[in-house]
Amino acid sequence: MPLVSSKPVLEEALRRHFAVGAFNANNMEQVQAIVEVAQEERAPVILQVSQGAIRYAGMEFAAGLVKIAASLVSVPVVLHLDHGTDFEQNVLCLRAGFTSLMYDGSKRPFEENVATTRRVADIAHIVGIPVEAELGQVLRVTDKVTQDDVIAAMTDPDQAEEFVRRTTCDSLAVACGSVHAMTAREATLDIDRLKAIRARVSIPLVLHGSSGVKHESILEAIENGIAKVNVATALNQALIAGIRRAVAELPDETDPRKIIGVGRDEVKEAVREKIRLFGSAGTIDSTGGFTSPKKQFRSADLGEIE
Ligand code: G3H
Ligand code: ZN
Repeated sequence: MPLVSSKPVLEEALRRHFAVGAFNANNMEQVQAIVEVAQEERAPVILQVSQGAIRYAGMEFAAGLVKIAASLVSVPVVLHLDHGTDFEQNVLCLRAGFTSLMYDGSKRPFEENVATTRRVADIAHIVGIPVEAELGQVLRVTDKVTQDDVIAAMTDPDQAEEFVRRTTCDSLAVACGSVHAMTAREATLDIDRLKAIRARVSIPLVLHGSSGVKHESILEAIENGIAKVNVATALNQALIAGIRRAVAELPDETDPRKIIGVGRDEVKEAVREKIRLFGSAGTIDSTGGFTSPKKQFRSADLGEIE
């Protein structure tokens, strides 16, 4: 299928209380693993590319790989910019054919975050592309980050209401206890805060830093408005673990496919676990539309972009 916009996909997920997996990819094997499992599990999927991934692969490869992967399957695939930290990056991705953007102004003062998010939303909406924004800050693991820091950076529910109204963003990344790049599932989310945000904000909410969150906490979050769950570290761990195992088992192997291919298989199983956890497995029928007893959601309704 051609790439689709994240907007109808996330809105459907929100209505039906499941979440769409938003998986980060840096290379061909990761892109293939994610999209192949989405197809096998009949799940919509968001393939997201960070600024670091764009620097690593180059814009043409980063966008091109996802477009090719999407064209080979019959489930909705979104190409999303993850943590675009400036206006220019968002414009470049819009031009490159991304079907979903993120402006991350979470490190900026509130008024500057509002103004730039609005600017990105204004231009993206002209061509029908939705924009995710972040309020509060999902921190990144370092030796210095304490639990008090995590709590202090959480999203303020009242501010969230004002932020969404003034920016017209289409989805909102909220800070409620997760931390980017954790390598073990130890974090518990502040579900009461999420409920308070949800009571004031009706657009789909986004969970960042999910690799370090306990599965039961993720499920509660999905019940309370999280419609997009970002996963990066868990997939990177799977890739490296597979590669390490292959190198250990085949120390004299010179064919990289025999080594990296094992990593790709590990990524597939990690993606499958998440897609099933998020409840998105089996939500897409053979035509590429949502299965639903109440409302059939055909591919024509999915806002196909190209
Ligand atoms: O934007 C990407 C995600 O928030 C990934 O976080 O690496 O902790 O899974 P993670
Ligand atoms: Zn993130």
